[in-house]
Amino acid sequence: MAKLWAGRTDGNICAVAEEFNSSISFDRRLFAEDIKGSVAHAEMLAAKHIISAQEARQIVDGLLGILDDVNAGTLAIDENAEDIHTFVEQTLTERIGEAGKKLHTARSRNDQVALDMRLYTRNAIDDMSKSLRRLIEVIVAKAEKYQDTIMCGYTHLQRAQPITFGHHLAAYAFMFLRDLDRLRDCRKRLNSSPIGACALAGTTYPTDRQMEAAALGFDEVVQNSIDAVSDRDYLVELLADLSLLMTHISRFAEEIVLWCSWEFGYIRLSDDFTTGSSIMPQKKNPDIAELARGKTGRVYGDLMALLTVFKGLPLAYNKDMQEDKESAFDAMDTVGECINVFTPMVASIEANADKMLAAAKEGFINATDLADYLAQKGVPFRTAYHTVGKIVAYCVANGKTLEDMGLEEYQSFDLHFAEDVYQTINLENCVRRRISQGGTSPESVRRQIEYIRAKLN
Ligand code: ARG
Repeated sequence: MAKLWAGRTDGNICAVAEEFNSSISFDRRLFAEDIKGSVAHAEMLAAKHIISAQEARQIVDGLLGILDDVNAGTLAIDENAEDIHTFVEQTLTERIGEAGKKLHTARSRNDQVALDMRLYTRNAIDDMSKSLRRLIEVIVAKAEKYQDTIMCGYTHLQRAQPITFGHHLAAYAFMFLRDLDRLRDCRKRLNSSPIGACALAGTTYPTDRQMEAAALGFDEVVQNSIDAVSDRDYLVELLADLSLLMTHISRFAEEIVLWCSWEFGYIRLSDDFTTGSSIMPQKKNPDIAELARGKTGRVYGDLMALLTVFKGLPLAYNKDMQEDKESAFDAMDTVGECINVFTPMVASIEANADKMLAAAKEGFINATDLADYLAQKGVPFRTAYHTVGKIVAYCVANGKTLEDMGLEEYQSFDLHFAEDVYQTINLENCVRRRISQGGTSPESVRRQIEYIRAKLN
């Protein structure tokens, strides 16, 4: 396909260089944004009498015709075009003639691609935010369902204190709520219009950047034309936000993998989200959770790639910047996919409450409550802590749990122990009493859930 920039040279470059230079294979996904931006540009040019109203009409109709035809499948995006901007402009000129050649007045591909990327990314953020909200809602519904289901809380992956499964799940909802907030923040910062910066220095035409910005839903224009064509900060910011989101996905995925192992047996995943083994007939593997955990690495890699492309890049536009797209698209696609498969998978989780409770009864996870019991009877906490440590060691040596200990056995360690000790170490009571804000009692967890739901609305 002929080059837009043929002139100084005949526009013919060597075949490998052509292939190397071309971006149409990945920037074709900016097609709709390119049309949208071009429509706004033509309308602004006419409003400012830079082109005639009739030329603008022809351009806009031509652009919308191209949009319809590509969407209908009657026009194919030409893979031989240098990039999507070339394809749209050349197709327009083929279709409407001379007027098509006026579209690029007071515009450069530098501000055009900057605009298209911002429009595309804004849309992608809106889509991801919608999916993320759904994921949070699903987690919150599970948390509500399991607000009374007792399980071990862990530190160092060692049984620590009794919590509820609902409390644990709600922790993930809060992480994703912060991710949602970060996406909103990133969207706010990207929502300034770069169009009108032209190549880098602005233009001698009497353009109206505000008008184009408003037509395209931007809050304002990027104030400095050099910055406008050089800036991809919002992509780095987004990929950092997405990396953190994937950190949360991967931590959740890791726990799901652990929980559905025979060793834990805490949950059942629907068969819809597990696979079998080609050789071991008994297997039910949590591939989806594992893959999501693995894809975290891709998104981190995309962030690193983007940072590295921009490091030390002089102002203003450099062709290196074409390399922003594949990393950014890959991160957005990957996160979108992960959220979309995670949501129904989490919805399918069923807790095995008996297994959770059995494990909770085994790890002396009510030992803190036992120490608190003595402290409440006037024993200094540090002394109480030591006494309970000795009791646990005694139990371990004698194959007992705290519940199995007789009252005289307790009293041989400290005379403050009385009959009410058994109520104190009862796991349900341990959970129910942790009413502090953010704590594990069903009442506290209900308040956490209300908080999340209020934030979502
Ligand atoms: N494909 C290019 C990119 O993605 C479009 C901008 C080209 N600008 C230029 N001056 N060659 O960055």
